[in-house]
Amino acid sequence: MITIKNSEEIVAMRKVGRITADILAEICAAVAIGVSTWELDQLAIKSLKAHNAVGACYNYQGRSRQPFPAHICISLNDEIVHGIPSKTRKIQSGDIVSLDLVAQHEGFMGDSTQTVAVGDVSDDVKKLLSVTERALHAGAEQAIEGNHVGDISFAIQRCAEEADLGIVRNLVGHGIGRNMHEEPNIPNFGEKGKGPRLEAGMTFAIEPMLMLGSEKILLDADGWTVRTADGKYAAHFEHTVLVTKGAPEILTRYVATS
Ligand code: MF3
Ligand code: CO
Repeated sequence: MITIKNSEEIVAMRKVGRITADILAEICAAVAIGVSTWELDQLAIKSLKAHNAVGACYNYQGRSRQPFPAHICISLNDEIVHGIPSKTRKIQSGDIVSLDLVAQHEGFMGDSTQTVAVGDVSDDVKKLLSVTERALHAGAEQAIEGNHVGDISFAIQRCAEEADLGIVRNLVGHGIGRNMHEEPNIPNFGEKGKGPRLEAGMTFAIEPMLMLGSEKILLDADGWTVRTADGKYAAHFEHTVLVTKGAPEILTRYVATS
């Protein structure tokens, strides 16, 4: 069942969306050469606390043996998602750093991801980032009442294929609300008009993961980190989006206040 949020729940989703965006922007701004991914996790802990929010990734029990041990997923370069922050992992010039945050506030979740390039990166990598972000917005634009999940998936796939990028097919976007993962699954490829019909009040985490090389992926021995099999870079952008009767509302869009 896909949950439809009522007006109070939508207010709560807006609130947590805003908090998620603010925290993520703060962490993105701290990404720099020489900073360890552990330090970014420490910043996530501090910022979540300051916003009276909880990091929903911490202790999350997925299909892995151990629960996720950090408050934010940080995945570099060929790592696609669910990278574990580490004191020995220092950011270098040429890295791309994907920061995936799920914040919980007053019982609701916001989920958002940005990938940032550090120092000198190739034109191919710049294109990977810009196309993946564009694919997110193309998908989000389809989150309108009367459309179908397949319209979101198709829009993302088209952006990827036009740019000759690979799609991570085993990992999907998802409904979100009181739970991090709710129905429906939102694949990053699909057919127009297929899948569940969208209704105003549904809230989705839309999250294209695109790659420069082959679509084969691997899971690390840590049970969490998912990476490309060929070692080529992958990017990930994600927003929590509210379906409305008109223009979709991106709940985790960052709005600078000063
Ligand atoms: N945004 C990720 C997802 O939707 C967050 C996962 S948190 C983790 O899967 F704990 F599983 F890492
Ligand atoms: Co997600």
